[in-house]
Amino acid sequence: MSGTVLVTTPLPEPGMRLLRDAGEVVVAERAPSAAELREACASGRYDVVVAQLTDVFDEQLLATASIRGVANYAVGHDNVDVPAATRRGVLVANTPGVLTEATADLAMLLILATARRCVEADAFVRAGRFRGWQPELLLGGDVTGAALGLAGFGRIARATATRALGFGMTVRYTARGGPVPDAELGPLAGRVRYVSWEELVRESDFLSLHVPLTDDTRHLVDAAVLRAMKPTAYLINTARGPIVDEKALVGALRDGVIAGAGLDVYELEPQLAEGLAQLPNTTLLPHVGSATRPVRARMAELCARNAVAMAAGQRPPHPVNP
Ligand code: DGY
Repeated sequence: MSGTVLVTTPLPEPGMRLLRDAGEVVVAERAPSAAELREACASGRYDVVVAQLTDVFDEQLLATASIRGVANYAVGHDNVDVPAATRRGVLVANTPGVLTEATADLAMLLILATARRCVEADAFVRAGRFRGWQPELLLGGDVTGAALGLAGFGRIARATATRALGFGMTVRYTARGGPVPDAELGPLAGRVRYVSWEELVRESDFLSLHVPLTDDTRHLVDAAVLRAMKPTAYLINTARGPIVDEKALVGALRDGVIAGAGLDVYELEPQLAEGLAQLPNTTLLPHVGSATRPVRARMAELCARNAVAMAAGQRPPHPVNP
């Protein structure tokens, strides 16, 4: 590796080892502020930045940056203005594939936990309120036989579909490119159905979001969409918070417009919209879709390989620039 790599937050050891073995690595003492990151990128001291999804590389930063690449420790890369990076010759790379199954597990977990009121039930037991079996204690919604609607049909959505079918759910999806040909669907062929966004919203018992955050998907789920959902439906979000208008969601959950929500991501992460944390019909997780030890180690390896390649002046194994 001929260049110097700045690591804004240390990666799990397999990634750090790859970076150290390849050449010069500087690890920031603490996660940099926006101004500190901009200064570091403009300093000429670093060729590549190993970045977290909380490190923002916007047009303003990229305008003064002298870096060659950004290796994002995430599959999502909405923290980087990729068109601006591309215009300025900055390569951007991500960590696809390795977190698919773990994130799909978490989507399924949110479906089950939210429908079966797992958080409330746990709190109930811990508070010493469990006094024995009761016919109507903590009743929830059914998962088996329910209709799952997947907004987006990439890797994670498809892995979620596989799990949902195993639970006896029916699965519909929307996708930007239209219906996916059966030949590409493998074992899902004939078992999932492409529908319009309107039908997906209207007919789903669980609406699960699997689209990237872009200008087109910001607030894709707004007050009107929530009103169009069944009053018994649940919203599941393991993608990115700003896809949902969180203020509208709090209102919808409070007023019974929908039955509940399972969220791993938030519009102004790590802040929650006012009132969200007080709602009992929610399962709230701290952005842990990919948080298994093996997955984070594999993400760290991919991220490090991307960084090492870019520092050596090569195209990374997983570029996101066109
Ligand atoms: C990603 O990779 O985009 C997740 O949000 C964090 O693993």
